[in-house]
Amino acid sequence: MSKLNIVILAAGKGTRMYSNQPKVLHTVGGKPILGHVIDGAKSLNPQKIIVVYGFGGETVKQAYAHENIMWVNQAEQHGTGHAVQQAAPYLERDADTLVLLGDVPLIDVEACQKLVAQADNKLAILSFNKADPTGYGRIVRNENGGVTAIVEDKDATEAQREIKEVNTGIMAMPNAHLLQWLSKLTNNNAQGEYYLTDIVALAVNDNVDVVAEITTDEWSVTGINSKTDLSQIERIYQSRIAQKLLQQGITLRDPARLDIRGSLSCGRDVEIDINCVFEGNVTLGNNVKIAANCVIRNAVIADGTQIAPFTHIDDTKVGENARIGPYARLRPGTTLAADTHIGNFVELKNAQVDAGSKINHLSYVGDSTVGKNVNIGAGTITCNYDGANKYRTVIEDNAFIGSDSQLVAPVTIGRGATIAAGSTITKDAPAEQLTFCRAKEQRSIAGWKRPQKIKK
Ligand code: UD1
Ligand code: MG
Repeated sequence: MSKLNIVILAAGKGTRMYSNQPKVLHTVGGKPILGHVIDGAKSLNPQKIIVVYGFGGETVKQAYAHENIMWVNQAEQHGTGHAVQQAAPYLERDADTLVLLGDVPLIDVEACQKLVAQADNKLAILSFNKADPTGYGRIVRNENGGVTAIVEDKDATEAQREIKEVNTGIMAMPNAHLLQWLSKLTNNNAQGEYYLTDIVALAVNDNVDVVAEITTDEWSVTGINSKTDLSQIERIYQSRIAQKLLQQGITLRDPARLDIRGSLSCGRDVEIDINCVFEGNVTLGNNVKIAANCVIRNAVIADGTQIAPFTHIDDTKVGENARIGPYARLRPGTTLAADTHIGNFVELKNAQVDAGSKINHLSYVGDSTVGKNVNIGAGTITCNYDGANKYRTVIEDNAFIGSDSQLVAPVTIGRGATIAAGSTITKDAPAEQLTFCRAKEQRSIAGWKRPQKIKK
């Protein structure tokens, strides 16, 4: 196999997105459109990836600064041929080139491989049959079925407009030929543009074989031009992921109400109820059950854990057989060991909670180390922030924190300590003792009357 160069055309303005953001940075499945194309390109192991950028180029470049990509600016957009001409100085003479479109995210790597496999000595085009071919370049074939030209919609004759086989824009060819053909392009056509598609007729003229591979997966060649396109592609992308998960044996209560914006890997007998969103890298162990309306991001959740509805998890590790939610919020840096229980309206941030501990109701536990079998009562707050600095709270094994307590950090609650309900703890509480810190006496005022509304 010879060397491969990949040119990604991404200079188009994306006017119909009505957005200040470059079109190719809008996301599908949480990843920029261009990111999908770049990842597809990388999986073909090319020597070079060249992105032709234009509108909003610097932002696009910055988004991929970490990638080994060559960026070529097409300051004015004079057509797809003109775009590839900008990349020409960087193409290797002894390589083949695959041209991809930066706004076609559901790239079919196998179809590209088929084109590349033929590009040593042929011009290989990816085409598809479209019921309404309006707007597309038509694949013109001779009586033997050989491809003789691509004619753009605006340049086509009435008869050519009837052709349903259209150009996807994805093609591959040997650079030795491509470089020559590029130098021969003219803009003598209806749009006054340099059409890359004109290289087909030039190839025929040079007796270079032209093949068109017809794909039946139209979504894999569909470009995004509007928010409507973006929303449709998003649903197709999501339904494809959902089908894969179902095939792996994951139970999805409704595959149409699931969104994966990143990667989700699951063990056996995982169940996911409706309206869950997974972002970044999420790993679910065996027998994990996620109830409806959870948002889970960059998390590892171990075997047997159950997440109740409306739980929000971000950058967190959860151990085996934990019970989380409903309405729990686990924020970055949190780790929960096995058999922990986190209940409703509990927020944890950068808290490490050891096995068997329970924080069941209405609490904030931040910057804290919680030992084994600790029980944190309803309404407990770790006061971790003094307005300038953050401090840690340490709660040792078997401690019991009474409801409505404030633990003012830095503070340590000793092993087996009990904190009386309603305490404001500002000093370390010794192990195995009951510590109080509340108003000294409980008073009652006999004959006290509630205020009455003043009648007007
Ligand atoms: C192009 C093809 C057409 C094909 C259609 C598939 C040509 C002349 N026509 O049509 O045969 O059916 O795609 O969608 O190639 N771009 C640049 N610089 C430019 C112009 C375009 O980078 O100067 C990029 C765009 O960002 C886009 C891609 O090339 O990613 C295709 O451009 P677009 O204008 O959408 O394609 P059409 O001219 O409609
Ligand atoms: Mg155009």
